[in-house]
Amino acid sequence: MPLVTSKAMFERAYKEGYAIGAFNVNNMEIVQGITEAAKEENAPLILQVSAGARKYAKHVYLMKLVEAALEDTGLPICLHLDHGPDFETCKSCIDGGFTSVMIDGSSHSFEDNIALTKQVVEYAHARGVVVEGELGQLAGVEDDVNVESHSYTDPGQVQEFVEKTGVDSLAIAIGTSHGAFKFKPGQKPQLRFDILEDVSRRLPGFPIVLHGASSVIPEFVAAINKYGGQMPDAIGIPEDMLREAAKSSVCKINIDSDLRLAMTAAVREHFATHPADFDPRQYLTPARTAIKEMVRRKIVNVLGCSGKA
Ligand code: G3H
Ligand code: 13P
Ligand code: ZN
Repeated sequence: MPLVTSKAMFERAYKEGYAIGAFNVNNMEIVQGITEAAKEENAPLILQVSAGARKYAKHVYLMKLVEAALEDTGLPICLHLDHGPDFETCKSCIDGGFTSVMIDGSSHSFEDNIALTKQVVEYAHARGVVVEGELGQLAGVEDDVNVESHSYTDPGQVQEFVEKTGVDSLAIAIGTSHGAFKFKPGQKPQLRFDILEDVSRRLPGFPIVLHGASSVIPEFVAAINKYGGQMPDAIGIPEDMLREAAKSSVCKINIDSDLRLAMTAAVREHFATHPADFDPRQYLTPARTAIKEMVRRKIVNVLGCSGKA
């Protein structure tokens, strides 16, 4: 099966009240861990590549790894550019075989965001590629950009944005944030479900995307610190809140930090218990298994997309 767009995935997810996991990939073990879990759970899948991942691994290597995963699993997989910073990066991914791109114009003015997003949509749609836009800004660290606080999405702007740009899905800011430190120690995690409901009312049937949706599960932070890490207290989005969102108009949930934490905990544990090891296959095997089990956990506990491939 060739790569697919997210169009049919989102239509079914919206109707049946679940979400598709969009997992960030940077190397072979991550691609394999994610796709092995999705295969065993028979789950539809979005693999996403950031500008940083393209710089780290090179476009062609990631493309070939994802093609290998397609051949190996036979799953419906959508290959998506995460946080496309500009038209050129989106164009390069569309020309290079991606089936979906995000143009992240969220740091621009409303008018400039519309103009940039529309330009990407015109190029993408003419080539059968779908586009995710963003309105509102998440807090947190993403590549070199550190945004201090949220700018929640203004529901009053979403209809005009979708109509004028022609985007296929929309990322909104309701209190999730990028990275492992989403709330301050002692702070109670909260999301603005009122904004999500208002947006959904104004865009019936339209797929909404949540970024910054890692749960930062305490046992993984504890494992990192048990085996020599020095991570400060980290708090993520509770799984039950995300499960609730997945039942609504939220059709795509982005997860990266939880994969990083699981992988790092596994590698640290391996070296702590096998201090003489120096064969990368020995420490990357538990790392790949940790990715696989984390993705399975997301499919079952958060996304609800098991058996929906
Ligand atoms: O939202 C950002 C993703 O976690 C990707 O992170 O830009 O460090 O690859 P990255
Ligand atoms: P997390 O940092 O919460 O995993 O979010 C990832 C993300 O939004 C990628 O676009
Ligand atoms: Zn993101």
